Amino acid sequence: MARVLKYAMVGGGPGSFIGGAHRRAIAIEGKAQLVCGAFSRDAAKSAQMAEELHLDPARCYPTYKEMLAAEAGNIDFVVIVTPNFSHYEIAKACLEAGVNVSCDKPVTISYAQAAELRELAKEKDVLFMVTYTYTGHVTAKYMRDIIKRGDIGEVRMVMAEYPQGWLAFEGDNGGKQGEWRTDPKRSGGVNCLGDLGTHVENFIAMATGLKIKKVLAKLDIVVPGRVLDDNDSVMVQYDNGASGFYWTSQIAIGYDNALRIRIYGSKGTIEWFQETPDKITIIDADNTIREVHRGYKQITPTAAKYGRLPSGHTEGWLEAMGNLYTSFAECILARENGTFTPDMIDYQTVAAGAEGLAFVEACLKSTNNGNIWVDVEE
Ligand SMILES: NC(=O)c1ccc[n+]([C@@H]2O[C@H](COP(=O)([O-])OP(=O)(O)OC[C@H]3O[C@@H](n4cnc5c(N)ncnc54)[C@H](O)[C@@H]3O)[C@@H](O)[C@H]2O)c1
Repeated sequence: MARVLKYAMVGGGPGSFIGGAHRRAIAIEGKAQLVCGAFSRDAAKSAQMAEELHLDPARCYPTYKEMLAAEAGNIDFVVIVTPNFSHYEIAKACLEAGVNVSCDKPVTISYAQAAELRELAKEKDVLFMVTYTYTGHVTAKYMRDIIKRGDIGEVRMVMAEYPQGWLAFEGDNGGKQGEWRTDPKRSGGVNCLGDLGTHVENFIAMATGLKIKKVLAKLDIVVPGRVLDDNDSVMVQYDNGASGFYWTSQIAIGYDNALRIRIYGSKGTIEWFQETPDKITIIDADNTIREVHRGYKQITPTAAKYGRLPSGHTEGWLEAMGNLYTSFAECILARENGTFTPDMIDYQTVAAGAEGLAFVEACLKSTNNGNIWVDVEE
C-alpha cells in the first residue's frame, strides 16, 4: 500500500486565500498530510495558523529558512503559496535543499528567475509543479485529449477571456489579496496579466499544445490611481500560424471567475466555461452541438480517471486543484519505487511556468513600445 506523503507549506496564514484551498484540495484525495509550515512572515500569525490546523507547534517555524533547515529531510514536498515576488527565493531554497516543490502561479516575477529555477530543478533532479488550477478539471484534460487526437482538426483561432470585477472601483484595491497584486514591488511589472493572463496563456498551451510565437498587447490601467494594468487585450500568433485573442480584466463589473475558452478548428469548435466545469460543448463540422458531461462515457480514460462522482453531482475548482496533486503525488511515489516515467507528469511544470513569464515580458515590451508585434523569446 502506498504511504501517505508528508508536506510543508510556506504562506497560507490567517486571512489568506489560496493556502487554505491547497490544504483542502490535497485532503480530497488524502495522498499527503501537512506536517510543518511557515505560514506567515509574522511568527505569531504563523503559530495561530498552526494551532487552527492542529499542527505540532514545534513544527511551525518563524521563517521558511528555519523550516527547511530542520525539516528538509522529513518532507516529500513544499507548497509555496505566498505573493508572487517571494516565490523565487523560497523555491530556490527548497530546490537547493533537494525538496520537491509545488508553487502557485505565476512561478516568479521574471522570465530569468523562472528559467533559473527550471534549470536548478533539473540539476537537483527534483519535481517542480506550478499549480495552474484550471488545467486539473476532467473536462480540461478531455479537451486536451480530443484536440490531440484531431477531433476538431487543425486549430485555427482561439478566443479566451477571463474577466473579473473585483478591482473595478477607485480607492478600492481589493484588501489583503489586492494590495500586493496592485503593488509593483510585490507583483512584478504586471497585475492583471500576471494574475489572470498567465492562467489563460497556460490553459491554451495545455489544451492545444501550441506555442505562442508573437504577441501584440495593450495593457490598460483603467481605474484612476493604479500603477499596474487592470484590463488587458492581447493578440496572439501561434507556431502553426493560427491566431488567438486573450482578454483578461479585473474591472468587468458582475463577473467573478469567468474564464471562457472557445477554440475553432478546421473540423469543429470547442467551448468551455470555468464556472460550469462539469460540461464541455463540442460543435462538429455538420453543426451538431454536443454537450459532454464529466461523467459521460465519451470522456477519455486519461481524463476520466480524475473524476470522483457520477455526472450531475458537481465537481469544481477544489477537485481540479486536488487532481494536480493526485498526479504530483503519484510521480513522487513512482520515483521512490523506481516506476517513474516522464509521461506520468500530468500537471504543469516549472518549464510551463517559465513560458508564462516569457509571455508576460513580451506583452510588456509590446505595450511599452506602442502596441507592436513582439516575438515571445525563451
Ligand atoms: N492557482 C490559482 O488559481 C490561484 C488563485 C489565487 C491565487 N493564486 C496565487 O497564490 C499566491 C498567493 O495568493 P493569495 O491570494 O493566497 O495571497 P494572500 O495575500 O491571501 O496570502 C499570502 C500568504 O502568504 C504569507 N506570506 C507572505 N510572505 C511570506 C513568507 N516569506 N513566508 C511565509 N509566509 C508568507 C502571508 O502572510 C499570507 O498568509 C499568489 O502567487 C497568487 O498568484 C493562485
